[in-house]
Amino acid sequence: MRHFLDIRDLNTDQLSALLDHAAEMKAADKAGRAQPQPLAGKSVAMIFEKQSTRTRLSFEVGISQLGGQPIMLSASDMQIGRGESMQDTARVMSRYVDAITIRCFQHDTLTSLADHASVPVINALTERSHPCQILADLQTMIERHGTLDGQIVTWVGDGNNVTTSWIEASARFGFQLRIACPQVYSPSAELLAWARGEGADIVLYDNAEEAVTDSQTVVTDVWISMGDDEGSRATDFQPFQVNADLMKRAAGDAIFMHCLPAWRGMEVTAEVIDGPQSAVFDEAENRLHAQKAVLSWCVAGN
Ligand code: CP
Ligand code: NVA
Repeated sequence: MRHFLDIRDLNTDQLSALLDHAAEMKAADKAGRAQPQPLAGKSVAMIFEKQSTRTRLSFEVGISQLGGQPIMLSASDMQIGRGESMQDTARVMSRYVDAITIRCFQHDTLTSLADHASVPVINALTERSHPCQILADLQTMIERHGTLDGQIVTWVGDGNNVTTSWIEASARFGFQLRIACPQVYSPSAELLAWARGEGADIVLYDNAEEAVTDSQTVVTDVWISMGDDEGSRATDFQPFQVNADLMKRAAGDAIFMHCLPAWRGMEVTAEVIDGPQSAVFDEAENRLHAQKAVLSWCVAGN
């Protein structure tokens, strides 16, 4: 049985196969060709402890397109909301459905579900990571730049859950990952050491201008993630705003990516996110195609 919990759990060949399959399904979709339905007769439950627009919709539509039945569950309406154990929940759900996606606060909730479920579990975002997002981001990079190899990707802003999945991806593919982040919000030393040990080329910067220079892809995310205290974040991250001046330092054909939702005037200016270099809506669309590849891999084995 295959879970999809984190990018680092898969090797390069497996991730490349998922990206190829996502691209094939997207092309078939655009051409209006009939598509296989590997989830026919199957049900997939989706548990959400946090809000979502893209993840919920792209999973729900993707499961339907693959022939399956999506079942949306708000964690607060379930018995786990009043303290039923994840162990029992996992065992019971495994008797009804063929896979489970979960968006939760604690990464331990995800791993506990995966440990006790006898059906595949897919990470739909935790406070630690967001692997489905990064698959869609890699797909977008390949579409725009033709390859991941030899590219420079610069992450600007908080060293958060999305950054973690970028770091794990950089351990699997041949792009350089630069991270421009105030030191106090940097990704953990342990994670960086793991990625470098796997061969990742990661460079940390405390200056966004320097980091972005000659990059082909500039990525950011909100300064305050779901579950974060606002604290002094709005001030601390001000020098890490992605604006037109910053984008001018990137390569001429650089793209801008953001997982969304975005706060214009905070982590990115409207000029950039709504400008010609922005790939954010292709990136959002690719959530659908990338997750269909993940669902097919987890549930149908291909
Ligand atoms: N990018 C992303 O995961 O968006 P949602 O929070 O809307 O699902
Ligand atoms: N880092 C953000 C991503 C939202 C998709 C959060 O966790 O809120």
